[in-house]
Amino acid sequence: MEQKIKSIEEKVNSFLIESKDDLEQYRLQYISKKGIVASLFEDLKGVAVEQKKAMGKSLNDLKRLAEEKFKTAQEGLESKVASTANDLDLSLPIIPNKTGSQHPLNLTRYRIIEIFERLGFNVEDGPEIEDDWHNFTALNFPENHPAREMQDTFFIEKNPDMLLRTHTSNVQIRLMKDRKPPFRAIMPGRVYRNEAISARAHCFFHQVEGLYVDKNVGFSDLKQTLFHFAKEMFGKETKIRLRPSFFPFTEPSAEIDISCLICHGKGCNVCKYSGWVEIAGSGMVHPNVLKNCDIDPEEYTGFAFGMGIERITMLRYSINDLRLFSENDVRFLKQFKPVV
Ligand code: PHE
Repeated sequence: MEQKIKSIEEKVNSFLIESKDDLEQYRLQYISKKGIVASLFEDLKGVAVEQKKAMGKSLNDLKRLAEEKFKTAQEGLESKVASTANDLDLSLPIIPNKTGSQHPLNLTRYRIIEIFERLGFNVEDGPEIEDDWHNFTALNFPENHPAREMQDTFFIEKNPDMLLRTHTSNVQIRLMKDRKPPFRAIMPGRVYRNEAISARAHCFFHQVEGLYVDKNVGFSDLKQTLFHFAKEMFGKETKIRLRPSFFPFTEPSAEIDISCLICHGKGCNVCKYSGWVEIAGSGMVHPNVLKNCDIDPEEYTGFAFGMGIERITMLRYSINDLRLFSENDVRFLKQFKPVV
């Protein structure tokens, strides 16, 4: 009997109780009235009188051990359940799901595309690393034009010249060279110029080029298209003004101004007290450019324009520093429309 008590004591000690099921198994085996310990008390009746006292004591110790183990395991399991329930506080405010925002330059680009798509313009794309011919020569830039200077343009290689495009006008050439007229396309993208970074200038920025080439395209089409764009983009009240200008690849050329959105023409520091803000360069495609792309200028005419996405975005959202667009400051970026 001594032996039996010892071996059961070992079994009690090594019994693993990790769940409610384990606990119930343990209870049935060792604690219940039909359990092993209870049956040992039955056996005690048959033990010789002189051994009974010592056996009885061992058996009582075993019983206590078994019961204490049961109690501790039971308490342990209960507190585990309670603590998981406590971790879950349903009255706490929710943790907001942090989704990113759309970059303001993209929001403006999407809006520009939306407006021109409704006028039947396609979206086209071209390379940012460009050769001299597509960026300058085909666009009728003379050999000694200042834009071809090292201090204005980032050259990657010399002879033959490879450079970071200085405007999106290179895509006009790629399009007209690759395909046959008519063309009605806008070409958004990034451009690069060797400029010192400030609130008003950056070494890279974004443009949207526009090109419309067909039979009988006139200057009035250019004017009406950009007038429509300005009203769609900035509101029905917006006026436009065309100022004579010069670009080697358009003739005649015009700068497009819109009436100042901030002061409505009265004069403020955004419009430099003129009441007008420049948003684009434009003009009728120069016959030499058409010829360079094997298009007959007697048969086809067209207009082109190029606008700065940064400038339009600054007007739209009253942003006064160009550097904010590329600094990745979350405090700035999170103020725009979330990504959905
Ligand atoms: N490429 C010119 C610029 O970067 C803008 C422009 C495009 C002007 C098309 C006329 C026609 O300033």
